[in-house]
This record gives sequence, structure tokens and C-alpha cells, in this order.
Amino acid sequence: MSIKIAVVYYSATGAVHTLAEALAEGARAAGAEVRLRRVAELASDGAIDQNPLWRRHVDATSGVEVATVDDLAWADAMAFGTPTRFGTPAAQLKQFIDQAGGLWHEGGLADKPVTAFTSAYNRHGGSEATLLSLANVFYHWGALIVPPGFTDPAVYAAGGNPYGASAVTGPSGDDLQPAVLDAARYQGGRLARTALRLKAGTDLTGGDASHDASALATKTGPEAEAGREADKAPQVA
Ligand SMILES: Cc1cc2nc3c(=O)[nH]c(=O)nc-3n(C[C@H](O)[C@H](O)[C@H](O)COP(=O)(O)O)c2cc1C
Repeated sequence: MSIKIAVVYYSATGAVHTLAEALAEGARAAGAEVRLRRVAELASDGAIDQNPLWRRHVDATSGVEVATVDDLAWADAMAFGTPTRFGTPAAQLKQFIDQAGGLWHEGGLADKPVTAFTSAYNRHGGSEATLLSLANVFYHWGALIVPPGFTDPAVYAAGGNPYGASAVTGPSGDDLQPAVLDAARYQGGRLARTALRLKAGTDLTGGDASHDASALATKTGPEAEAGREADKAPQVA
């Protein structure tokens, strides 16, 4: 049985990209098929050019495929990465997530294992707040949050963040500590193993893990309305 994992991230200067690669590596080592996808950049070239590290990273990763909502539909499990921006996820990742209203409405995100990771300049600069903020989305989806918790020495060695792998970059930029890359690999492996168990269990019981939100009396709720609006809204590349 093979597990499909979408690793979807935004990174301006490369740190979250490096974490995403490590998490993908861990998931692949656990047997998963992985799509590593960056979300579309929203900033202007003028803004990017003001920061040589940002320009360098944008140019270096132009070959990484851009995430689409179809990647989320394809996946059995998902991992989302974002830099910490004033203690919240980057707008670029949120913009991508906000395109998933239609898929949400069809029940295409329910019951999927999901995990998140981040990078911040400061050790106490809001990593946990960012991951918890992202988790609000996962609750709405009915996704199954798979935190690393304190389940492996790799988590402690990386600074002990049970919410998700979090790099502290400081002035070192995307030159991340090996311990945090190990924690990201562990998190990817844990996500894959969890998804595998869930899928195997579903096969055993003959249950269908998917739900159709429209069949669950949500047709009149505000989020159902938002989902319908998202269906109508033009998709932003
Ligand atoms: C607009 C903006 C807001 C930021 N807010 C925070 C913050 O709240 N806390 C923090 O520690 N670092 C903050 N940073 C720094 C980034 O989170 C940090 O450099 C991160 O490692 C960048 O990841 P990336 O290389 O993947 O883009 C901010 C950076 C920018 C550009």
C-alpha cells in the first residue's frame, strides 16, 4: 500500500524550503510518494529585489513545481510549511489555503492527516503561535492533526517543539542546524506512518474515510456559503 503526501510550503529566503526537503525525505524514507510543492509568490519583483537572499532563493527554486489545490485532493496526508510572520503564517501560504474552499466543501480535506512546520528568526519569535494559527485551518477541515509531540529524541534535540519542526535562523539564514533537519525528517516519517495506519485500517473495516460536507447538513452554514463562493471564485495561480 502506498501513501501519497503533499508537502506544501512558502519560503522567502530558503529556511522553510530546506525544512520542507528534510520532511519530504523523512516521508519518502517511510515509503511515501511525495509531492514537494511551493506556493505561488505574491510579492512583486521590486520587493524581492530589495533582499538579495530573497532574490537568490526565488531564482534557485524556480524549478520547484507550484502547488495547486489538486495536490491536496491527490494526497492522503499533507504537510504545510511557512516562515513565522509576526507570529502568524505568511500571506502566500494563506492565499493558497484560501483557494481550497471548493475542495473543503466536497469533503476532500476531511480525515486527512496533516502536520505543519515553520522557521523564525528568534527562538521565542512566535513559532508555536504560527503553528497553532495554522492548526485553526486544520480543525475547520476536519483534518487529523499529527504533531511530533514529545515522541522521539529528535524533537528534544531540535529544541523541543511538540507542535512541529521549527528552525531558529537568526543571522545564519537558511544554514539550518542538523538537529532541526533531523526533527523535520522524523516529522515526515511520523506523518507517513500515521497515514499508512489510517489507510490500512480503512481498508480493513471497509470504511470510507471521505465525507461529502454538502451531505452533512452544512448547506446553510456560513462556511458552506464560503465554499460555494470559493467554487465560483477564479483560481489564482
Ligand atoms: C514580514 C516579516 C515578519 C517576520 N516576523 C517574524 C516574527 O514574528 N518572529 C521571528 O522570529 N521572525 C520573524 N521574521 C523572520 C522570519 O520568520 C525568518 O527569517 C524565517 O526563518 C524566514 O524563513 P524563510 O527563509 O523560509 O523565508 C519575519 C520576517 C518577515 C519578512
